[in-house]
Amino acid sequence: EAGALWGGRFAGGPSPELARLSKSTHFDWELAHYDLAGSRAHATALHAAGYLSDDELSGMLDAIGTLETRVVSGEFVAAESDEDVHSALERGLVEIAGPELGGKLRAGRSRNDQIATFIRMYLRDKSAVLGGMVAELARVIADQAEANQDVIMPGRTHLQHAQPVTLAHQLLAHAWPLARDLDRLSDLGRRLDESPYGSGALAGSTLGLDASLVAHELGFSSSVANSIDGTASRDLVAEFAFVAAQIGIDVSRLAEEFIVWNTKEFSFITLDDAWSTGSSIMPQKKNPDIAELARGKAGRLIGNLTGLLATLKALPLAYNRDLQEDKEPVFDSVQTLEVLLPAFTGMVATTTFHGDRMRELAPQGFSLATDVAEWLVKQRVPFRDAHELSGACVRLAESKGIDLNGLSDDDFAGVSPLLTPEVRSVLTVDGSVATRDGRGGTSPARLAEQLDELRERLDEL
Ligand code: ARG
Repeated sequence: EAGALWGGRFAGGPSPELARLSKSTHFDWELAHYDLAGSRAHATALHAAGYLSDDELSGMLDAIGTLETRVVSGEFVAAESDEDVHSALERGLVEIAGPELGGKLRAGRSRNDQIATFIRMYLRDKSAVLGGMVAELARVIADQAEANQDVIMPGRTHLQHAQPVTLAHQLLAHAWPLARDLDRLSDLGRRLDESPYGSGALAGSTLGLDASLVAHELGFSSSVANSIDGTASRDLVAEFAFVAAQIGIDVSRLAEEFIVWNTKEFSFITLDDAWSTGSSIMPQKKNPDIAELARGKAGRLIGNLTGLLATLKALPLAYNRDLQEDKEPVFDSVQTLEVLLPAFTGMVATTTFHGDRMRELAPQGFSLATDVAEWLVKQRVPFRDAHELSGACVRLAESKGIDLNGLSDDDFAGVSPLLTPEVRSVLTVDGSVATRDGRGGTSPARLAEQLDELRERLDEL
């Protein structure tokens, strides 16, 4: 077989059926750039150990450079007979450098340590790309929070009106998980910082090559301590897939808010025309497709993670070909987020929030009942009694078909003499929100502090 990396002990080439199953060039070409960087570093290590002369090293680096140019221009592509990106690029190198020199590069390395290294480099680079996009989304959320800081809306638990909150507070509650996702990516970066190159097939190399030299050339701080672990582990790939899934989930929770807020019944937001879609039959429709796709893509991202975990479960050490299945799920997760995040960010940035409508609904559903109870506590009424008295007010108001602030002074006094007319001070959404001023609370006074903290965190990450 022309380009195969093995053949000596085989009577003939692989069956077409095997070749078709085995082939990965249609997806692992994504790693070509890392493979070439690995080859440069490996040539340097071979030279340092005396396996390549000075001339051979420069000839090798020239050939790798020529190959890289051809890969970038599209002149060099995978051939039908190439099994994976690594075998294809070695074929290309031998074509350029000749079999004598080109055939020397494979000494002391295996596709097993190559692929384990390149996937880490890929994850490292993509962490930076996705991290930038996630940070941008979080910043846009923060900008919308700041621009709409006077808006008060119904805060919900169980989807029921619970207590009034500021829109800014609600929006920022979606930005903090994204900040933690960024933190997760940078934390993963510490673990990705060890190079498996030099592990060989599984047991290391006899050639005395300097693994830490290769590691540094490839931008890692160090190389792995255990060559079996280096070639057989994919927990870092799974961890990345988890973070990608969590980003998708965090985005989907904001997406769901937008979908609900965009309904006629809520009428909390209007989406910009350029960031919403129409219907092929209903002329009036304007749909939140970006948010719906965000919700849907979260499922796909979870699927990529669980598929990968299933591949890894109980897989014996060291390398098994099953591990080739790590790439498509994680590539898909990256591509999914690379397309989703900019669209979602654009949708959030261009949405109009209807503060009057939110404010109108904020006091409804007896959402100020906790404020009445806490007002009583401030008059030194035990909370247990305060809760009962406020509950009695709710029952009275409900029976009259009015809201809490519709009760008269006599109504309150009838429930308890403790409920003096001063209780009205907390029966406004502004009063309610303003008094929730402990750390982390929804009061406008705390908002500036929260925004500062978030932006500082985003700038650090
Ligand atoms: N293409 C393989 C992978 O992605 C690497 C090649 C290792 N193959 C082998 N037979 N040892 O995992």
